[in-house]
Amino acid sequence: MPRTMIEPFRIKSVEPIRMTSSAERLALLEEAKLNVFKLRAEDVLLDWLTDSGTGAMSSAQWGAIMVGDESYAGARSFFRLQSVLRDITGMEHLVPTHQGRAAERVLFTAVCKRGDVVPNNCHFDTTRANLEFNGVEAVDLVIAEGLQPATLHPFKGNIDLARADELLTREGDRVPFGMITVTNNTGGGQPVSMANIRAYAALLKRHGKPLVMDVCRFAENAMFIKLREPGYTNTPVRAICQEMFSYADGCTMSAKKDGMVNIGGFIMLRDDRWLEAVRNMLILTEGFPTYGGLAGRDLEALAVGLEEGMDEAYLRYRLRTAEYLGEKLEAAGIGFVKPTGGHAVYLDAKTVLPEMPAAHYPAWALCNALYLEGGIRGVEIGSVMFGKRLDDGTETYHPMELVRLAFPRRMYTQSHFDFAAEVLVEVKAKARSIRGVRIAKQSKYLRHFTAEMEWA
Ligand code: F0G
Repeated sequence: MPRTMIEPFRIKSVEPIRMTSSAERLALLEEAKLNVFKLRAEDVLLDWLTDSGTGAMSSAQWGAIMVGDESYAGARSFFRLQSVLRDITGMEHLVPTHQGRAAERVLFTAVCKRGDVVPNNCHFDTTRANLEFNGVEAVDLVIAEGLQPATLHPFKGNIDLARADELLTREGDRVPFGMITVTNNTGGGQPVSMANIRAYAALLKRHGKPLVMDVCRFAENAMFIKLREPGYTNTPVRAICQEMFSYADGCTMSAKKDGMVNIGGFIMLRDDRWLEAVRNMLILTEGFPTYGGLAGRDLEALAVGLEEGMDEAYLRYRLRTAEYLGEKLEAAGIGFVKPTGGHAVYLDAKTVLPEMPAAHYPAWALCNALYLEGGIRGVEIGSVMFGKRLDDGTETYHPMELVRLAFPRRMYTQSHFDFAAEVLVEVKAKARSIRGVRIAKQSKYLRHFTAEMEWA
């Protein structure tokens, strides 16, 4: 049996990508204020900015698009999606939204109040921002290993149960619900074990609090459980997903990830305690309850995509892709969050640029260097994303300086990954000449998207 794990699909439709010269890339990046978010996608060769909404839909999904029911109210497509989601999650109520952050905004605005506290393993940036916008404190309680890039642990996304218990005991009155993010995107795309989800749900229950899961990458998390957690080797991924969801009272999802679609999101709720408030908020800003922020065709594509996202051959190939790049980085002596995550590889910029001061934003600098060297676009997950300029002008920094290379689903082949590994080796060899940056202009929320930088 050959050892190479192949892409378990063949390509039916192709889209050209363009190689630029290094002089062109320098000019383009400077024009983009040294912020890769401001580049035109056409000027990027391997676009690994995000795995969100960027993947390839299957022929079955494109087929489903044609049968979308575009009725304003009570569309067939809503009921089809609801039945798929009821089966996977065991939850009753589907509230469709146009993407994940809309689900967050709708839920948090309906359910939280100023002064609340929400624990999570790690809040994703939009989750944190939507909580903070509502005056809620977002507390990250991932286990210590989850913040140590080089430490091996099968479930680095686990929440620290002792600290969660302490928070619930101390601040219980302020906690409307607990959250857990699967996989933990901010901490390296690392999975959460079934045992941890189960224990966290039980802990919340003891304190009388519901559990809301952020389930963007639930299928990848389930595959990690199958591969790593004792007792699940022979359990189908679908059944693992069902068990994960069984511990939650509700969830928010950006369907642009494991939903395998280019746009979409939803909230699922087990009972109707929050339903009316959530639907009222939905109608105010997203749309009628049976379509939320989506077209009927989007609901259809998602109903198919959720099933495809749980396919085990696909998931095996998907997790292997990240692992394959990780093996090449290991051989080149480039640090990354270990083990590799589900949707991405997170480079540890401090291992490539050990002498660069935090004030020059080493992860941002590495991200720029990848574009300049090979036309690869990643995203900084470090102090530009999570640091802050306080009102008195002082800067705060994030403990980790990571660059995430996130892989769109079913898009790139092995040679793209081989190419990327070669680019990374080149970048490491030139590390001494990589320049840091300073923030010239920034916004109050989610500053990384729009910040303007200058060379430090
Ligand atoms: N929660 C997690 C864990 C996410 O990774 C994201 C999006 C969201 C919520 C928000 O969903 O984008 O549909 O509004 N993550 C993308 C990323 C943007 O690049 O990781 P959204």
